[in-house]
Amino acid sequence: MAKDWSPQSWREKPIVQVPDYDDADLLARVEGELAEFPPLVFAGEARKLKQHLAEVANGNAFLLQGGDCAEAFAEHSADNIRDFFRVFLQMAVVLTYAAASPVVKVGRIAGQFAKPRSSPVEAQGDIELPSYRGDIINAIEFDEKARIPNPKRQLQAYRQAAATLNLLRAFAQGGYANLEHVHQWTLGFLKDTPASERYQELADRISESLEFMRACGVNPDTDASLRTTDFFTSHEALLLGYEQALTRVDSISGDWYATSGHMVWIGDRTRQPDGAHIEYCSGIKNPLGLKCGPSLEPDGLMQLIELLNPENEAGRLTLICRFGADNVEKHLPGLIQAVKREGHKVVWSCDPMHGNTVKASSGYKTRPFDLIMSEVRNFMDVHRAEGTHAGGIHVEMTGKNVTECTGGVRSISDADLHDRYHTHCDPRLNADQALELAFLIAEGLKKERAIRGPAKPVIAAE
Ligand code: PEP
Ligand code: CO
Repeated sequence: MAKDWSPQSWREKPIVQVPDYDDADLLARVEGELAEFPPLVFAGEARKLKQHLAEVANGNAFLLQGGDCAEAFAEHSADNIRDFFRVFLQMAVVLTYAAASPVVKVGRIAGQFAKPRSSPVEAQGDIELPSYRGDIINAIEFDEKARIPNPKRQLQAYRQAAATLNLLRAFAQGGYANLEHVHQWTLGFLKDTPASERYQELADRISESLEFMRACGVNPDTDASLRTTDFFTSHEALLLGYEQALTRVDSISGDWYATSGHMVWIGDRTRQPDGAHIEYCSGIKNPLGLKCGPSLEPDGLMQLIELLNPENEAGRLTLICRFGADNVEKHLPGLIQAVKREGHKVVWSCDPMHGNTVKASSGYKTRPFDLIMSEVRNFMDVHRAEGTHAGGIHVEMTGKNVTECTGGVRSISDADLHDRYHTHCDPRLNADQALELAFLIAEGLKKERAIRGPAKPVIAAE
């Protein structure tokens, strides 16, 4: 952190991807109000997540990060949150078993409302309007009034994030994360799934392990760690006025923390070393993500790591790689080699979504499941070749049965996309595709484990 850092020092830096608010007084009033509201998370929780991520950086745990591309005000139901959490837990169980190591669970949720856009305008026919930038900024309807950025939306985003987080905490600690139940749901998925034989063997081994533990007297009734879980939240720190208002001093350490979520990340479009987003993130102590796209060169990455993690703290920085399936081999080895040469401690995570977006012949933006899987496979292969830990996965997903990405066990085709295409921004994996991805990654993790030997987790069970 620069000596003269403060929660508002980003305001002196060049900034991109910001909305043009036309009522500066109203914006200032809203930010002032937010600054008086309670924090959404507590600094101690962010520190705990950092410790867990340090285990990922050290090769002893795996990171599962996922959720909506953009949360929406119109889709704030208990069912949506529950369905997301259910499939997320199922993925985590499959990955825990395959990696034989803890899975750190981080949702893109309870704050993922602001979107960077490739173009500031959207055209439909002859009409051109400002782009939709996420519900915290403007509304998605293609209508002149809806697209005007409205500061008051920040208050609604805060309240939605608080309510979502409240339910997630209840689910994580109140019994919904019961390992035996989660596994039963997975068995249900396999029963109804066309291509299930491939995954059945792994599921059977999980069943046997649970039965064995039960026979030994260890089950969710006797052991809290089998019915509760640690779950953390994350979002892109894009709308810096909102983030600043929720940046607070931790009374224990005296350090500044973003209290809008446990972890925040910097997008691929806002990672300019002298820009506002890097400035803001450099001064908060939360774990940070940094999106690494094809335009990031090894030297540029070294510069950003120095700015974001000068003390080389394991768990502070997660590099979220999103090159596109065919570009992984071109870009990733150089970045890994530079990181190794400089001795930087980082978590390597794979976002197989953002580099694989294509336009279907039907006109919908989609992502073919095969390309998503191929990016993950290439990511794991490169890490295996470099002797580094393929530490995590970052996906856009929902617990609902949407039709946004093509392929997967149910072979969604271009022609099916219009059926249930509900995303407010990028196409997400549906529940079946997300779980299938976890099974496929499990196969890769098994290979890594065969080479590296068992992980040595030190995360204390609670
Ligand atoms: C996102 O994660 O939704 C996103 C916009 O990603 P990126 O910055 O990698 O394009
Ligand atoms: Co996205």
